[in-house]
Amino acid sequence: PINSILQMLYSVPSKPVQAFGLTFKNPVGLAAGYDKDGITVRGLSALGFGHIEVGTVTPRPQAGNPKPRVFRLVEDKAVINRMGFPGRGAKKVEMSLSRSLPAGLRGALKGRRDNLPANGEIASTASQSRNDTIIGVNLGKNKDTPLEEAASDYISLMRNFTLLADYLAINISSPNTVGLRRLQGREMLENLLSEIANERRTSHIARPILVKLAPDLTDEELDDALGAILDTGMDGIIATNTTIARPELASKHREETGGLSGSPLLVQSEAMLEKIVKRVDGRVPIVSVGGIMSPEDAKRRLGMGAALVQVYTGLIYRGPGFVKEIVNNL
Ligand code: FNR
Repeated sequence: PINSILQMLYSVPSKPVQAFGLTFKNPVGLAAGYDKDGITVRGLSALGFGHIEVGTVTPRPQAGNPKPRVFRLVEDKAVINRMGFPGRGAKKVEMSLSRSLPAGLRGALKGRRDNLPANGEIASTASQSRNDTIIGVNLGKNKDTPLEEAASDYISLMRNFTLLADYLAINISSPNTVGLRRLQGREMLENLLSEIANERRTSHIARPILVKLAPDLTDEELDDALGAILDTGMDGIIATNTTIARPELASKHREETGGLSGSPLLVQSEAMLEKIVKRVDGRVPIVSVGGIMSPEDAKRRLGMGAALVQVYTGLIYRGPGFVKEIVNNL
């Protein structure tokens, strides 16, 4: 009942968008990190999101960094976080997500797990029942998995979530797991994404796979990463994660270690979008995220060539009506 009240309060007009072979009821999504364990998907979907990116999920549970690890920079309309992927681990998240499906579909999925038909019958599994909200799952490696073995973490996560997610996002851009961002380097990324592409080829269902990039890549690094993403047949790009850069900030928390999000990230995130649009030239859709704090910001990204947008810090500062506000203004 609470969800139907929320739905009434936050109902948004339908503004459908096609991307990665999926139909999104509107282009506004919730960025990764808000519902790390996939426990509030239904409630969040009632706020009007066209998609929700659950995660980052790691294979095994882990505690993340000691608290405090999230700081509000109110004067700057920003946040610095160094969460470090705390989470209950893939098995638990898998259970939560399957619980958000209606019983019938849950049973159907369970029964077919070992004997999947190679057809589209359950291809749209997850979203159908969750207010038609597309569910992505963002995947990351455990802190104690050596970088050389990162691929095995991502592949085991693909096996956990291929059935339950509408799309998968490969997170190689969080600043709070030591070494993770090195996976964006040409050789490492090509190796990693080839293994991921291989795993998808051999599984029964092929979900769209997106790669989430950092805003701190140099032009050359970005070029390399995009080359690897396109060469390995990935379906899309999410740009960007939080930044380790520190533009002019007023808040007393400005020196905290971690990733900066919100208003001060806008310029960097738009610059990345512009470069990626140019380089990718329509071959794959782009999800723009970073510093979207108003309906105008969102509209601008879509005008620049993003297929979808995501918000996180904007939701913190503008409140639960933010999604509706954006979609109404499109
Ligand atoms: C994040 N973000 C994030 N990204 C990701 O890929 N995996 C994660 O687990 C998290 N966790 C997380 C926690 C917190 C507290 C924040 C503020 C952010 C990054 C997020 O998805 C997004 O890319 C950035 O925050 C930029 O968008 P906004 O916040 O400026 O709209």
